[in-house]
Amino acid sequence: MINLAIVGYGKMGKMIESLAHKNEFNITGKYDVINPVNKHLKSNTDVAIEFSTPDSVIENIEFLSSKGINIVCGTTGWYHKADQIKNIIDKFGNGFIYASNFSVGVNIFFQIAKYSAGIINKYSQYNAEITETHHTQKLDKPSGTAIRIAEYIVENVNRKNKIVSDSDTPEVNELNIISKRIKNVVGTHEIKFSSNADEISLRHKANSRRGFAEGALVAAKFIFGKKGFYKFEDIFNEL
Ligand SMILES: NC(=O)c1ccc[n+]([C@@H]2O[C@H](COP(=O)([O-])OP(=O)(O)OC[C@H]3O[C@@H](n4cnc5c(N)ncnc54)[C@H](O)[C@@H]3O)[C@@H](O)[C@H]2O)c1
Repeated sequence: MINLAIVGYGKMGKMIESLAHKNEFNITGKYDVINPVNKHLKSNTDVAIEFSTPDSVIENIEFLSSKGINIVCGTTGWYHKADQIKNIIDKFGNGFIYASNFSVGVNIFFQIAKYSAGIINKYSQYNAEITETHHTQKLDKPSGTAIRIAEYIVENVNRKNKIVSDSDTPEVNELNIISKRIKNVVGTHEIKFSSNADEISLRHKANSRRGFAEGALVAAKFIFGKKGFYKFEDIFNEL
């Protein structure tokens, strides 16, 4: 039985609560902006699943780590501060696993992105572009998932070496991520490879938040009792 805290009790926190099986998880607390974890933490917590906001995530990680609690982090928008987070985890010696996207489908899509970029690399007539569409309450832009897809393309297409966001006039070496915000869209990511002659599109569309929550619970079981800093993508195939 894993004693689980839900840190960030919004759309994702509530979905996680609804899917956490009672014979595997004992939910010790649910925390949000009006019931912050650093003031109200219940002591018997093994793992915290953190889906809050880009502004609060670092403070939450530092606090939970200082209490020796292992963390599944789904919040996006902090990756430019990854070194700071690694230092926190090193300092307190707890376990930490994160993903820009915990869904099985997106983690398969990452592998497809990587593989297709390797093919497109050989055909210089093709440009690459990413479009991500999310609901209007999403705080960060571009999405963490779009940035990860872009990194796979830049790593594998030699003529692309810079990621740009919402550029009207991207240079040939730039991989543009176009962000759209539309009411009620859970999350759609599309990679487009286009030449003067044709277009190849690859698209992942999340139909609900269920896939993210299921993946986060799998990650909670993985990180229970472990130490160190893990990326979900790196251990996805083992799981
Ligand atoms: N990694 C993934 O698979 C994945 C999937 C979906 C969403 N996300 C990310 O997860 C985050 C949350 O998404 P959401 O759709 O649940 O958002 P949401 O706006 O519905 O919920 C955010 C919650 O965080 C709470 N919060 C704010 N400050 C807090 C604090 N200091 N401590 C604790 N909680 C606090 C808010 O009260 C709210 O309940 C976002 O960053 C989003 O991009 C990641």
